[in-house]
Parts: sequence; structure tokens; C-alpha cells
Amino acid sequence: MEKNNIKPVTRKTFQKMKDNNEKISMLTAYDYSTAKYIDECGIDSVLIGDSLGMTILGYDTTINVTVEDMITFTKAVSRGVKRAFVIADMPFLSFNISKEQTILNAGKLICAGANAVKIEGASDFILDEIKHLTQSGINVVGHLGFTPQYINTIGGYFIQGKSYENTVKLLQDAKKLEESGVFAIVLEMVPEESAKFISENLTVPTIGIGAGKYCGGQVLVIDDLIGKYWGSVPKFVKQYANIKEIMKKAISEYNQDVKNGEFPLMEHSFRLSEEEREKFEYNLVKQNN
Ligand code: KIV
Repeated sequence: MEKNNIKPVTRKTFQKMKDNNEKISMLTAYDYSTAKYIDECGIDSVLIGDSLGMTILGYDTTINVTVEDMITFTKAVSRGVKRAFVIADMPFLSFNISKEQTILNAGKLICAGANAVKIEGASDFILDEIKHLTQSGINVVGHLGFTPQYINTIGGYFIQGKSYENTVKLLQDAKKLEESGVFAIVLEMVPEESAKFISENLTVPTIGIGAGKYCGGQVLVIDDLIGKYWGSVPKFVKQYANIKEIMKKAISEYNQDVKNGEFPLMEHSFRLSEEEREKFEYNLVKQNN
């Protein structure tokens, strides 16, 4: 449905863009104002990534993020968006337990304002869950390559699909995801040639992060792009601004101004009318006599 004469991006738009060789742009957002600015800049899709576990909640990985966390941020982001397609991550173990739990949790994110959910992995169990979701009217995005929710079993931040055999296995998984009904697949930390091979052999678009230029689209974590993230930034990030430094400079100057009595000044203060001020002065004189 059109909001204020703006034609929203849908899953069909994703496929059309892939078929027309147009790149899909996607960014993460976790709050209302950032989502609004991203949308106003014409980005096609906003992802409420469970990367918010690190960027917003200060955890070391994404595995502590809960469905309740995702609901809160999904509500905030979706209120800020008019055009972009909103995707919410299904956090660790909000799926992978039973089809019933998966559909209940996905449903909560859809009711919070997401147009689709994203699920990491492609085990037979997950493929069944994805089929159930898509048959129930819930749009699903897959996520292959490096899958951060499996960090403990992967054993570190390793590039995936580094050999022909591993790339073929990734493509097989991607095809199974496609058959299960996903309308796009995020490919994370995969060599450019492998991502190209996978992307060219799929019908649905791939959205790359650290997967080179041949994917159907690109996604980045907004905190990495604007230079706000507190931790180390991966090689695949292009940092377009240094918000961390801008924030720290402004906060330090404020701190100094408060300590030196240079803030607030007259222009930041509310003043009484002349008449009321005179009453204070009169009463002060009376009190002192
Ligand atoms: O959680 C996230 O932000 C993601 C992107 C990195 C794709 O899954």
C-alpha cells in the first residue's frame, strides 16, 4: 500500500531489480531517526540486524539478542520508514527449535512492522521452517557464508567459500533456500569470485556484505558506514564518515563548558519579564532590610 504517494519497495521489486541488473541497496538501522534518514536517502531496504547486539546493546556477539529486543527496535525502525522494505533478523534460537516457535516469533516481528524476516543457515530443519513461514504468508530472506549466530561452532570470523568445493556447497544450500521460498539471500564474507558464481546461478538476488561487487545488492551495518561503531571494523567496510570523533568532540566540549560555567548562556535560558524581575528585586531588598 502507498504511504503519502510513495511507492513502497516490495519483494517483487527485489526480483525486478535483479532481472533488470539494477543494484539493491540495503543498510541496517536500529532506531527511528536513522531509519527515517536512510529511507529519505532512497535506500531500498532497511535491515534491523541482530548486529544491534553489538552496536546498540554492547555485547561481543549477536547470540545474546532476544526476540523482545528485536521487537522493540523493529517497531522504532518501521515507524521511520515510508518506502524501504523492512527486514528483521530472527535472533539466535528464535528459530531452529520447532516450526511452531519459529512462526510465532516471526509473526511477532511482522506485527512489529517488518515486511520480512531473515534467517541464518540452511540445515534441513531450517529449510522446513522457512517453507512453513513462506506458506503462511511470511517473507523470508536467507543468510549464508559467514553466519554470525554460529560463531561458537565456526570458531571465529572466517571467510567462507574459499575453495571451489566449498563454493559449490554454498550454491547447493542457496538453491535449497530458493526452493524453500526465500526471495533474497545475504552472502557474508565470501570471496568475490565465489559470490559471483553463486549469484549468477540463482534466480533470487544475493545481497553481499564482504562478498564483492557481483552480488545483486549490498548491505552494510550503519554504524560501520558512519564510523560510530566502538569495536574494530572489518576490511570489507567503506567508512563514509567519522561520527564517533564528531560525537566525542561535541561531548567533550559540552563537558568543558559545563565545568567552566560557559554553558548555558543567556541565549539558552528562559528569562522573566521585566515586571516579574522587578518583583524579585523588590522582595530581595525587603528581605535584606
Ligand atoms: O545483523 C546484521 O546486521 C546482519 C548484516 C551484517 C547482514 O545480518
